[in-house]
Amino acid sequence: MSKIGILTGRGDCPGLNPVIRAVVRSGIVEGYEIIGIKNGWKGLLECDTIPLNMSAVSGILPKGGTILGTSRTNPCKSEEDTKKVIENLKKLGLEALIAVGGEDTLGAASKLIKSGFPNIVGVPKTIDNDLSCTDYTFGFDTAINVAMECLDRLHTTAESHHRIIVAELMGRHAGWIALEAGIAGGADVILIPEVPIDMDEVCASIKKRHSRGKTFSIVVVAEGAQFKDKTIITQEEKLDAFGHVRLGGIGEFLAHEIEKRTGYETRVSVLGHIQRGGSPTAFDRVLGTRFGVKAVELVKEKKFGKMVALSGNRIIDVTIDEAVGTLKTVDKELYEIAKVFFG
Ligand code: F6P
Repeated sequence: MSKIGILTGRGDCPGLNPVIRAVVRSGIVEGYEIIGIKNGWKGLLECDTIPLNMSAVSGILPKGGTILGTSRTNPCKSEEDTKKVIENLKKLGLEALIAVGGEDTLGAASKLIKSGFPNIVGVPKTIDNDLSCTDYTFGFDTAINVAMECLDRLHTTAESHHRIIVAELMGRHAGWIALEAGIAGGADVILIPEVPIDMDEVCASIKKRHSRGKTFSIVVVAEGAQFKDKTIITQEEKLDAFGHVRLGGIGEFLAHEIEKRTGYETRVSVLGHIQRGGSPTAFDRVLGTRFGVKAVELVKEKKFGKMVALSGNRIIDVTIDEAVGTLKTVDKELYEIAKVFFG
C-alpha cells in the first residue's frame, strides 16, 4: 500500500486537526496508508512517526492545536540536516509528504523538493493570513473572531473606567488580524505594519473622538506595526531557526505614549496566544476539511510541488514557490474603510 506522510509545522493554529482528519479519511478511501510525522520537521530528523487510522482521527474535528504536535525546527538549517530529512523520507517509504504550514514550513518544503524529495504537497496554515496565492489560510477566521470577542469585552471595561485601552494583536509583519478584528470589534484606531505609525495622528484621532463627548477609546495595534523611522518593537534580539525576531511590546510602548501625550488614563492588553488556541470556527473547519481532501487529490494526481489554495470560493492548486515568494500584506482599500471609523 502506498504511504502518505503528513506533518504540521511551526505555530499551531485552529483548523490543523480538521486538515489531518480530512487527509486520513480521504486518503484511506483512496487506498493510502497515512503516517503522521510528529512535531513538524523535527519528527523527520528523528523518524518520529505514528500511524494514522480512522480511530486516531475520531473526534478531533473541533479540537484546537494539532494532534501531531509541532516545532519550530528548520530542516534546512544545515546541509547535514537536509540530507538526513531526505534520507528519512525515503527510509519511511513515503510516496508523498503533505506539509501543513505557513511561509517557513512551506519554504523548507520548497528547498527539500529541490534537494532530492520532490513529492511534496503543501497546505497553507497560519492565523496571520499572510501567505500569497490563497485568499485565506485556515486559522485566521478563528483568530479574528477570538480577537473580536476580546475587543467587545475591552469596550465595556474601557467605557466604565473612561480609559483608553490599547489591544496588541498578533500577525507578524502583516496587519490582517489587527485590521479585520479591529473593524469587526469597532476599534477607534487601528495600527498595522503596512502603514507607519504617526503618534501625532493617533493622539489627534483620540482627542477628536473625546471632543465629541466620548470618554473611552479602543486602539488596536498589530505586534509588527512600525513607526515612521522603521522602528519595530521586539521582545528579544535572538533570532529563531528561520531567522525571525520575536515581536511584541508595542502595545505597552503606545499606551505609555498615548497617556503622556493626551493625559487620558490608558491601559494595555496583549492578547497573545489566546488568538491561536481553542476550537476552530465553522469556516476554519470547512476550509481545513476542503484543503485536506484536495491535498490527497493532488497526491493521487501526482501534482507535486503544489499547494492547495482558496480562490473566491473554489479550492485550487498553485505552486509552493509562488505562495512563499512574497508576503501577502493587507489590502489598502480595506484599511481606508477602517479609517472611516477612526476618531
Ligand atoms: O505566525 C503565527 C504567530 O502566532 C505570529 O502571529 C506570532 O508573531 C508568532 O506566531 C508567535 O510565535 P511563538 O508562538 O513562537 O511565540
